This record gives sequence, C-alpha cells and structure tokens, in this order.
Amino acid sequence: MAKQLDPAWKIPEHVAIIMDGNGRWAKRRGLPRNMGHRQGGKAVEAICEDAYHLGIKYLTVYAFSTENWSRPQDEIAALMNLLRSYMKDCVRQAEKNKMRVKIIGDISKLDEDLQESIRNLVEKSKNNDGLCFQIALNYGGRDELLRAIQGICQDVKNEALEIEDISQNLIAAYLDTADVPDPDLLIRTSGEQRISNFLLWQLAYTEFYFPDVLWPDFTKDDLIDAIAYYNTRERRYGGVINV
Ligand code: IPE
Ligand code: IPE
Ligand code: MG
Repeated sequence: MAKQLDPAWKIPEHVAIIMDGNGRWAKRRGLPRNMGHRQGGKAVEAICEDAYHLGIKYLTVYAFSTENWSRPQDEIAALMNLLRSYMKDCVRQAEKNKMRVKIIGDISKLDEDLQESIRNLVEKSKNNDGLCFQIALNYGGRDELLRAIQGICQDVKNEALEIEDISQNLIAAYLDTADVPDPDLLIRTSGEQRISNFLLWQLAYTEFYFPDVLWPDFTKDDLIDAIAYYNTRERRYGGVINV
C-alpha cells in the first residue's frame, strides 16, 4: 500500500533536493551515464506534482552546479540537451499545475537558445499560484554570494545604499533566492553526505536527510519518508526547548 502522510505531521514549507546518483543508476544497469540523467529528469517532473499534493510550497532542486563544467564535454552537451527539452515540457507542466518556476544560478553562461527558453518559462509561469519551483542551474553557493557582494558594492558605489544599510536581510535580498524562505528540509540522495556548494547561506538552520536511494529511483514514498524524518527533529535554532 502506498505510504500516507500522518495528519499530525508538520509539512516542511520549503524542501531543497540535491538530486544525486544519476550516473551510478545508469552504471548499475550497464547504461551510459546520460540515460541516468534522462531518467532523473522524469523523476523531477513526478516529484514536483507529489510535493505540491503533499502540501509543500517551495521546492528547490540542484540540476547543474558551477563545478559540473569539469565533467567530460559529451556529458555536459547531453545534460544541456536534456535541459533544452525539459524547459519545453516544464512550460506545459507549469501551466497544468499552476507552478511558478524560478531559476537560481548564473544562466548567462548557458547557450543563448537555452537562456531564451528559460526566460520564456519563467515569464509564462510568473503569475501562477501553485508550487514555487526553483531550479538551480550553473549554481554555486559561493558564486551566488560573490554576485550578491558585487551587487551590494555596486549599489554603495552608486549611492543607492549606505554601508550602514547592509544587514542579514539585505544580503538575503541580493541572493538569487530573494523573497523565498530558507529551506526547512534538505534531501541529498545516493548516500553522499555533503553540500557540494548548494545554498550555503540559506541552509544555516535546515534539517538534513540523506537517503541511499539514487535520484532516478526517488518516489513519492521516499518524499513521505523524508517528511516523517523531518517530524522526528527538534528545531532549536540555538535556543533550548522544554526547560
Ligand atoms: C547528479 O547525478 C546529476 C548531476 C550532477 C547533473 P550524478 O551525475 O552526479 O550521478 P553520480 O553521482 O555520478 O552517480
Ligand atoms: C551535486 O552533485 C550537484 C548536483 C546534483 C547538480 P555532484 O555529483 O556534482 O557533487 P559531488 O561532485 O559528488 O560533490
Ligand atoms: Mg554525483
């Protein structure tokens, strides 16, 4: 029987996912790594719908990191082609499910046609009031902080800001994730337990969950397990509870 949410559970408002293990999924089946990425793309589509139906408001997925450019050229080309077709399917999915899509990361390094389909997807979905779906593309937490610091310095130089105006809230507003609350729960699939340069600022008080399942095999039941785990945690934010 399919797993169910316990009505007593708190649902994390924002879930972030490091979708890892596509290559190992393919290798185990004697397939080329690209087949793992293709299957991983299908898992993303399904999990967007599941997340929304489970009551999650924000979902952020790590699709391509600033360090992933160091992979072999043919793997990068295949990933970019997958993204091309994914962006088109995503327009339809966003329309159907009223999903609002945002991109975090520096898309200026991507091919012009891909940038254009990304802008189209973001523009077409911007007024939707369903799941807010953030895709991290050419994203690195350090790169995001660097670009935010450059933006702040530029505004100080232009006299739009005073140094005294710089606060934690102001820094957050210069990040790609401006206006989106910090993740409550981070899931990294495939058993790896590291951040790999994801959301360095935003994960300050996020709960972490590391299932062994490889990303292409990740299903709604795994998401429900993650929510169950989240409900076993006591979020203290540096304070004390039940004294
Ligand atoms: C994650 O799967 C997808 C991307 C980084 C694009 P991997 O390709 O990292 O899969 P493994 O870690 O080699 O199994
Ligand atoms: C992190 O996975 C990036 C994405 C899932 C897009 P990697 O597979 O690139 O991370 P490392 O190299 O194992 O740290
Ligand atoms: Mg990996």
